[in-house]
Amino acid sequence: MVVEFHNEPATDFTDQENQQAFKDALKKVKAEFGKEIPLVINGEKIFTDDKYESVDPANHQQVLGTISKASKEQVDQAMEAAKEAYKTWRKWTPKERAELLIRVSAIIRRRKHELSALMVYEAGKPWNEADGDTNEGIDFIEYYARSMMELAHGKQVFDREGEHNQYIYKPMGPGVTIPPWNFPFAIMTGTTVAPIIAGNTVLLKPAEDTPLIAYKLIEILEEAGLPKGVVNFVPGDPKEIGDYLVDHKDTHFVTFTGSRATGTRIFERAAKVQEGQNFLKRVIAEMGGKDAIVVDENIDTDLAAQAIVDSAFGFSGQKCSACSRAIVHKDVYDEVLEKSIKLTKELSIKHTEGGSDVYMGPVINQKQFDKIKNYIEIGSKEGKLEVGGKTDDSKGFFVHPTIISDLKSSDQIMQEEIFGPVVGFTKCDNFEELLEVANDTDYGLTGAVITNNREHWRQACEDYDVGNLYLNRGCTSAVVGYHPFGGFKMSGTDAKTGSPDYMLNFLEQKILSEQF
Ligand code: NAD
Ligand code: ALA
Repeated sequence: MVVEFHNEPATDFTDQENQQAFKDALKKVKAEFGKEIPLVINGEKIFTDDKYESVDPANHQQVLGTISKASKEQVDQAMEAAKEAYKTWRKWTPKERAELLIRVSAIIRRRKHELSALMVYEAGKPWNEADGDTNEGIDFIEYYARSMMELAHGKQVFDREGEHNQYIYKPMGPGVTIPPWNFPFAIMTGTTVAPIIAGNTVLLKPAEDTPLIAYKLIEILEEAGLPKGVVNFVPGDPKEIGDYLVDHKDTHFVTFTGSRATGTRIFERAAKVQEGQNFLKRVIAEMGGKDAIVVDENIDTDLAAQAIVDSAFGFSGQKCSACSRAIVHKDVYDEVLEKSIKLTKELSIKHTEGGSDVYMGPVINQKQFDKIKNYIEIGSKEGKLEVGGKTDDSKGFFVHPTIISDLKSSDQIMQEEIFGPVVGFTKCDNFEELLEVANDTDYGLTGAVITNNREHWRQACEDYDVGNLYLNRGCTSAVVGYHPFGGFKMSGTDAKTGSPDYMLNFLEQKILSEQF
């Protein structure tokens, strides 16, 4: 019997044993630096001549591993393997598939610190964020396995005299998983595993900044006994193989998480029916955010400042859910701003291998570093630079947590996704205006409202157009099974990861009607 779902608990780093175990894991991962990572097609490891390097963003001279790059021909081979594997994998019962995946989560749980430690080096994650990433990966597997078992016999439809009807769920075929680097284990795992638990097969193209952690999942899937060809690993340059994967006539679905630019490109391209394609592709596109914390009058200003700082600077603001706008009532504006500045000045920033007390590390790469630096320059002209603004890419890509005040909603840094540790403050006269400004964005992912006024909360529930809305807390840290995650507008297709409906993204419904 399968036990009830429960979330994987966070590691308590105040416990010395856990501290030591994590330090040991960092050492183990360090000893593996320089490893060669192959493609995996139909279970076969393929090392190509065309390779690239994954580096430590906190020390960019440090090469962590060398990764083989897939060509278009290899994508074709991977698709053939996925098509072949689909013929048998789809016939496993949902329970059999779910049980195998629960073995996968058991192995991940055993190797938890090793995976988290790798994210410290490959993604610059602080310990608690890396631990959370691994735990969320486990949660996704455990949750989706149970969801699929619940859907195993379909849903109830009526029988009538002389007729028996069944409404069942079936998989779609091979598809493509394209994850981002910012939740390099959790999102990569969730978006790979959900389609296969449903009975589909997958080509996984990992994010180019975080291929090593993605390869750990591939190793674990193999260790757990996943049949060959069910998941094929095709790292590579998205400029070379990105469109090719999406356009492929045999790609039945694309599950993408990443930027608006890439997501809309995929959405558009997948709509075109290719020669030899006799079905419509399904696209799940979870994209960016320009998330806000709305602060009403008569509130606890300590709570508001803490919520803003945590949501803006956790993992250096590199979360689609991060707070990049603080929209504050004029009566508490100065106090909330002052307290947020004070909290920000206390944050430590350095290589996150240094210990569990390091608050934030580097941003992911040179491109992001340059982009964030440019936004800080723009923001400093649009408003007033209150704290931070310092950047240093001499060794790693470090951007200090930055607050810019006195902005207008129409300012560039209040409109465009920065994806770094930068938050803009703006002032409003009343709650209507606060909500109006909060909605003044193309995005609609997360938002939080700090208020003690129940009417205002009810108004926000109706009018604040975001997929995940929170009261009196920050706007990050959704938990699988509690806060299904996904957004509206240009934040994407609202797939709601970690929800009771998520598996439906990877299933088709079939009616079986027999007369007797
Ligand atoms: P990105 O769009 O640059 O890359 C995401 C993935 O798409 C990567 O694997 C990349 O290799 C691939 N890709 C790039 N071009 C492609 C193409 N033409 N065809 C196919 N694949 C292609 O995004 P990123 O920088 O990795 O991630 C950051 C973005 O992700 C932010 O905008 C963030 O808000 C968003 N994000 C959203 C969610 C969510 O749930 N809504 C979660 C995490 C991150
Ligand atoms: N699911 C992540 C969060 O809520 C992005 O912060």
